Amino acid sequence: MFARSVTIVARPGARAASNALRARFSTQPALHNAAPAKTKTPRVLPDFSMDGKVCLITGGARGLGNEFCRAFVNSGCTNMAILDLKQTEAEDAARELVATACLNSDSKPEDFKIIGLECDVSSERSVIKAFNETMDTFGRLDSVVASAGIVENYSAFDYPFDRIKRLYDINVHGAFFTAREAARNMIPQGGGAIVLVASMSANIVNIPQPQTPYNASKAAVKHMAASLGVEWAKKGVRVNVLSPGYMLTKLTRTILEHDRELKKTWESLTPMGRMGEPNDLAGAVVFLASDASRFMTGTEIRVDGGYCII
Ligand SMILES: NC(=O)c1ccc[n+]([C@@H]2O[C@H](COP(=O)([O-])OP(=O)(O)OC[C@H]3O[C@@H](n4cnc5c(N)ncnc54)[C@H](O)[C@@H]3O)[C@@H](O)[C@H]2O)c1
Repeated sequence: MFARSVTIVARPGARAASNALRARFSTQPALHNAAPAKTKTPRVLPDFSMDGKVCLITGGARGLGNEFCRAFVNSGCTNMAILDLKQTEAEDAARELVATACLNSDSKPEDFKIIGLECDVSSERSVIKAFNETMDTFGRLDSVVASAGIVENYSAFDYPFDRIKRLYDINVHGAFFTAREAARNMIPQGGGAIVLVASMSANIVNIPQPQTPYNASKAAVKHMAASLGVEWAKKGVRVNVLSPGYMLTKLTRTILEHDRELKKTWESLTPMGRMGEPNDLAGAVVFLASDASRFMTGTEIRVDGGYCII
């Protein structure tokens, strides 16, 4: 069931810090002529650290969700559940994340406990099961990102109703089930941070492609975060929204494959003149999921190259 279930022996951050301390304060002569370290551990505001936090990301096998997983690991997270539609893809993503984290660093695979779980967010039962498995594995949950989502472009008259319903089941109900299970587990432990991924489409109407149900679904997610943020504010659970602009992922590539000119149109409508790279969101997601945003709830951060301001 799990991609890996490895016991943590030491956190990479802790080992790096103790190595640095040893090097700085040791009075012993060096045993060999080791080359001086080329890189210095950067000084960062500790509130942004994800070290010691247990994270869960839906839609984490691919696209933005996968980038959020990387951002958390790069900020010190070693305990994580990656949820996605297919067990194998979630497990592959978990394995790949650990391998990448160990590349060019002093981290070892056994420093991480990252698991891949099958979960269809449109099914309440599937979400509950995945959260139960996560709690069984880690015993707590600190930061949850609801990134699973889909987009489709049909004009209102052409949109088949079963597809509209499926889109709302994933984008709206999926975000709700995810947030609710997160809070259910976070409240008894004293709190946590939930990030719902909406879109700039929660605020503007995209052109030229028609996507009314998607836009409405993301507006629903934005107001859902505000409403849940109020509901759980005194219980220590914060709910915020990350709203990306046009980002280069499989989701947008599928649309662009059918319309080469569309990318140019999107770029011309974006003040910064380009589409976003998934890692352009790394800072914002870490901010919302970490203690750095501890006095924020029900708020949206837009990362859209300025799209919404004109
Ligand atoms: N890419 C963009 O330009 C963009 C812009 C604004 C908002 N968003 C939002 O960001 C989120 C992620 O988009 P992306 O670009 O990474 O898409 P993507 O298609 O690249 O990845 C989506 C991931 O979610 C998973 N998923 C889909 N349905 C699921 C379900 N029912 N249960 C569990 N997992 C499911 C997919 O398997 C995939 O791994 C979505 O909510 C999307 O609406 C994307």
